Amino acid sequence: MSVPSAVPVVAIDGPSGAGKGTISRALAGRLNWHLLDSGALYRLVAYAGHSQGLAEDDKGGHARVAQQLDSRFGASADGGELILLSGIDVTQGIRSETAGMGASRVAAWPEVRAALLARQRGFARPPGLVADGRDMGTIVFPAAPLKIFLVATPEERALRRYNQLKGKDSAVTLAALSREIAARDRQDATRPVAPLVAAADAVVVDSTGLSVADVVGRVWRAGSERGLWREE
Ligand code: DC
Repeated sequence: MSVPSAVPVVAIDGPSGAGKGTISRALAGRLNWHLLDSGALYRLVAYAGHSQGLAEDDKGGHARVAQQLDSRFGASADGGELILLSGIDVTQGIRSETAGMGASRVAAWPEVRAALLARQRGFARPPGLVADGRDMGTIVFPAAPLKIFLVATPEERALRRYNQLKGKDSAVTLAALSREIAARDRQDATRPVAPLVAAADAVVVDSTGLSVADVVGRVWRAGSERGLWREE
């Protein structure tokens, strides 16, 4: 499948907890564009593999799961995210840090990444797409007219994840999260295929100490400078 170029794509990559999900959702909402949460796809593969009793190191089995993944992304009654796996609501289940580690494990396998490539590119539909992940600007949408690499200090990232998870994942502690995020960063950045790295033409945005509105404002300015939309 060729890389679609007619539809504008904003690629938002960066390490865990840098705020990609929040910023991508806010930007997609402001533009009324589609949203791709590619991390959720890797989480779903690990989650579905586990539910089907696959061995943790079964690459072929997980690649098959990725190929056949029956996933749906929508909105819950209160406007929050809703993720269905074979029709079952797994929104909470895939958000735990354990599910994140599982995702990071299966995401290191080229078979799984290849199986998800066309599905991810299929999200690029008019009027545009905001794509959140680790390799959106480097591999999945290399022709994206705007690539953001969002970073924040490890302390701030752990704290943000903690605040996100504490109501949902009762096992979570800040110290354990800091360790797990550091381990996941290492695993994602050092894998041989599609490692976490800023595209050469990415705009690096450090969100440490900035509000969501500040970060969206920076991304908005970068997009208007490139003629993707008008400055407001
Ligand atoms: O963004 P997230 O925390 O939901 O992602 C979970 C894991 O999935 C992450 O640790 C690495 C992997 N991932 C990836 O390899 N490539 C992507 N485009 C998105 C996520």
